[in-house]
Amino acid sequence: MGSMHVLGISGSLRAASHNSALLRAAQELAPPGMEVEIYDGIGTLPHYDQDLEAEAPESVGTLRRKIRESDGLLIATPEYNYGPPGVLKNAIDWASRPAASSPLLHKPIALVSAAPTNFGGVRAQLALRQAFLWTDSDVVTKPELIVFRSQDRFDDAGRLVDEATRELLGGVLEALAAKVVASRTVAA
Ligand SMILES: Cc1cc2nc3c(=O)[nH]c(=O)nc-3n(C[C@H](O)[C@H](O)[C@H](O)COP(=O)(O)O)c2cc1C
Repeated sequence: MGSMHVLGISGSLRAASHNSALLRAAQELAPPGMEVEIYDGIGTLPHYDQDLEAEAPESVGTLRRKIRESDGLLIATPEYNYGPPGVLKNAIDWASRPAASSPLLHKPIALVSAAPTNFGGVRAQLALRQAFLWTDSDVVTKPELIVFRSQDRFDDAGRLVDEATRELLGGVLEALAAKVVASRTVAA
């Protein structure tokens, strides 16, 4: 598959976040040739303001550059009140502008979610899938990874220990890699 650089974005600022832990597991489970960098600037982004778009703050420029330079994104979202956390939506809103040259345009993206409830953040994940329709991003549809009862899947050190979840996450990364390869073929 050649070398592939994936940017991992967690929608949680919590130190013991299960979603951030999923990204760390992805670093471990990435297929050969794929490396996953974890973006850690989401909490430093200002609130989206269209008046700042022309001269976006440096933190926004960094986010856009990191997305542009990546081959694909792996986004892990918690669910807050049936939707994605504001910090994550805020980052996506910044990255989506200006629309015609957004780094999200045609970007291969895999979405996963984790929550300690029985629904595993599926509603937040669906809401993000909807947002990425507007941005014309290329989102992996299958396999789906919805980590419900997430407290049962990680050990005390935050390592993903549930074998079925590890397998599914590996499958999501394979599907993301396939999208990256397909996007290179189209671009060539
Ligand atoms: C403000 C807030 C709202 C929440 N709303 C939901 C919800 O709608 N659905 C759900 O499954 N869990 C909800 N939860 C629980 C989160 O799923 C849980 O805190 C989860 O662990 C957050 O992800 P993290 O471990 O990556 O931080 C909510 C938590 C917070 C703090």
